[in-house]
Amino acid sequence: MTPLPVILDVDTGVDDALAILFAVAHPDIEVLGISCVAGNASLERVVENTLRILDVANAPDIPVAAGARRPLIEPARAASHVHGEGGLGTLRLPPSSREALPISSIELMRRLISESDRPVTMVALAPQTNLALLLRQYPDIAGNIERIVFMGGSASVGNATAVAEFNVWHDPEAAAIVLDSGVPTFMYGLDVFNQVGIDEGIASALLTHETDAGRAVGALLTNRIALGSDKSAEYTGLIGDAGAVCALVDPGALRTEVRPVRVQLSGFGRGQTLVDLRRWPGEDVVHGLADEWEMVEVALNVDAPRYARLFLETLGLA
Ligand code: BDR
Ligand code: CA
Repeated sequence: MTPLPVILDVDTGVDDALAILFAVAHPDIEVLGISCVAGNASLERVVENTLRILDVANAPDIPVAAGARRPLIEPARAASHVHGEGGLGTLRLPPSSREALPISSIELMRRLISESDRPVTMVALAPQTNLALLLRQYPDIAGNIERIVFMGGSASVGNATAVAEFNVWHDPEAAAIVLDSGVPTFMYGLDVFNQVGIDEGIASALLTHETDAGRAVGALLTNRIALGSDKSAEYTGLIGDAGAVCALVDPGALRTEVRPVRVQLSGFGRGQTLVDLRRWPGEDVVHGLADEWEMVEVALNVDAPRYARLFLETLGLA
């Protein structure tokens, strides 16, 4: 199989780091470039963490660039209570000799997409500010985008608020712009994100693994475990954003449905993804009031052990 051309948009971030390690290691994925955005940590930290993780992965020279340092409207609000002040939890890595390109990641994405001889799959693992700016500034670029796979949203519980998932909550307008762009979208939300975990025993054993990547994975997974006060799936060693990358190469492990979705932009529900799971047309549909919703393929369930295995095997850690 010819590897799938992919651009990652990240806010590295504990689980973005896991996603980068997985994407770079998988033979069916070709990472054309990485675009950074403020989210889990400041833009500067996200860029530096991304470069350092590429070192750990022993990755080839993948272009990295910095994009938006704040959401379209609101100030940036880092998730340091989850990812630590530096963004990688307890993982400490030496500075990288790699450098980010001296251009905006919006420009990097535009170049990579327009130069690709095959349509590119965008994998958004962060607030969607960069993607919204790209699609607004260069709408024609959509013609060479295969689809946008995004980690974000939820058809049930939230995390940033009771109902809103962090990436969409951090920049709801950006997520709404992306959904409205006309590019096919695939939502890997909290419904599946919160299911794929690696056992504490395996994660702890990796802390003394013989490879840098193995030890880094151990530290990243145990960081999440340390946050939890109970043993629900949400507090095992979640692979998090890496699950959205698994969806590229093993979609069969997911149960998905194409559903109408929209982003709540105001009130207490700001940042919530409303997912219409009804099996029958309601009054809003009957009276023509439901036209503004976008059809999105939504992942609703996952064979979690299968993705956990895929992750570990791809990194040679099983
Ligand atoms: C998402 O927000 C961030 O904390 C994680 O990196 C993930 O992308 C989960 O809500
Ligand atoms: Ca992320």
